[in-house]
Amino acid sequence: MPRSGALYTINGLLLEQAKKMVARVETEDEIAKMRAAGQLAASVLEMIGDHVAVGVTTDQLNTICHNFIVDDLQCVPAPLNYTNGSAPPFPKSICTSVNHVVCHGIPSEKKALKSGDILNIDVTVIKDGFHGDTSKMFAVGKPSVLAERLIRVTQECLYRGIEAVRAGATLGDIGHAIQTHAEENNFSVVREFCGHGIGRTFHDEPQILHYGRANTGPKLEEGMTFTIEPMINAGKRNVKILPDQWTVVTKDHKLSAQWEHTIMVTSRGAEIFTRRGEERPS
Ligand code: MF3
Ligand code: CO
Ligand code: CO
Repeated sequence: MPRSGALYTINGLLLEQAKKMVARVETEDEIAKMRAAGQLAASVLEMIGDHVAVGVTTDQLNTICHNFIVDDLQCVPAPLNYTNGSAPPFPKSICTSVNHVVCHGIPSEKKALKSGDILNIDVTVIKDGFHGDTSKMFAVGKPSVLAERLIRVTQECLYRGIEAVRAGATLGDIGHAIQTHAEENNFSVVREFCGHGIGRTFHDEPQILHYGRANTGPKLEEGMTFTIEPMINAGKRNVKILPDQWTVVTKDHKLSAQWEHTIMVTSRGAEIFTRRGEERPS
C-alpha cells in the first residue's frame, strides 16, 4: 500500500482517507476465518505456478486466477475495482509485476513473458469478509544469476522480518531485520510502499515499514494481523508511478523483487496464514 494517507474527494468534499484502525483478531472464529482466507490465497499461488511460461501473457494469468478465485474457491478477488481514493479503480483481479516493475503491475494482453523475466504475482482474496494477501516471485525460463540472487535474498528478507515478530517486539525490529539483510547483500529497500494491517479491511493500520531501527516504534501485540511484503531493488531504492497511476517501477529500471505473507502476532512468534505447502518443513 502507499505509505501516505492521501486526501480524496466525494461530492466535492475533501475527506480524510477512511479512518483506519489497528487490525487484530478478537475471537477464535475470526482467527479461523483469517486462516481460511490466507490458505485460499496461498492456493492461488500454488495453482498458477504451472501456467507461468514463455509466451503466456500476464492477462492470461489474470484470467486463470480470476476464474479459480471466483468459481473454484468461491472468493472475491480484492484487487478488482479496488480504489485507494486517488487512482482509478484497479481493473484486474491480481497484480503482475515483471522485472523493473516494483508492485501493482496491471495484467495486460500486451505483456507476454520472455525467457529470463522475473515476475511477482500478488493475490488477495476475500472469504467470509476476511482478507488473505500474499505474493511470490516466479522466474521464466532461465533467469540471470543476479535475478536469482535478488529473488532469493528478497524471500530471505521476508522470513527475517517474520522471525522478528512476537508479542513485545517492535515495528522497528521488523524493518531493521529486513533492511539489514537487503543492504548486506548490496540491494536496496523501497520506502514508498509498505506492509499493512489486514482483516475485514484490506489496508488497515499499522503500516509495516521494511526498513527501520531495532527497539523503535510501537510494540507488537498478540492477535495483531498484518502483511510483511518487502520490495527489494537490485539498484537504487527510488521508484516512480506510471501514468496509469498504479504501476510502480524502479527509477533506474533495474530489477525489483517482492514476497508477501499475511501473519498474526502470537506470544512466541508469528503464525503465517498464507504459508504454502512448498514452505513447510518436510
Ligand atoms: N495486494 C497488494 C498489497 O499487497 C495491493 C494491491 S491493490 C491493487 O497490498 F489495487 F493494486 F490491486
Ligand atoms: Co499487501
Ligand atoms: Co499483496
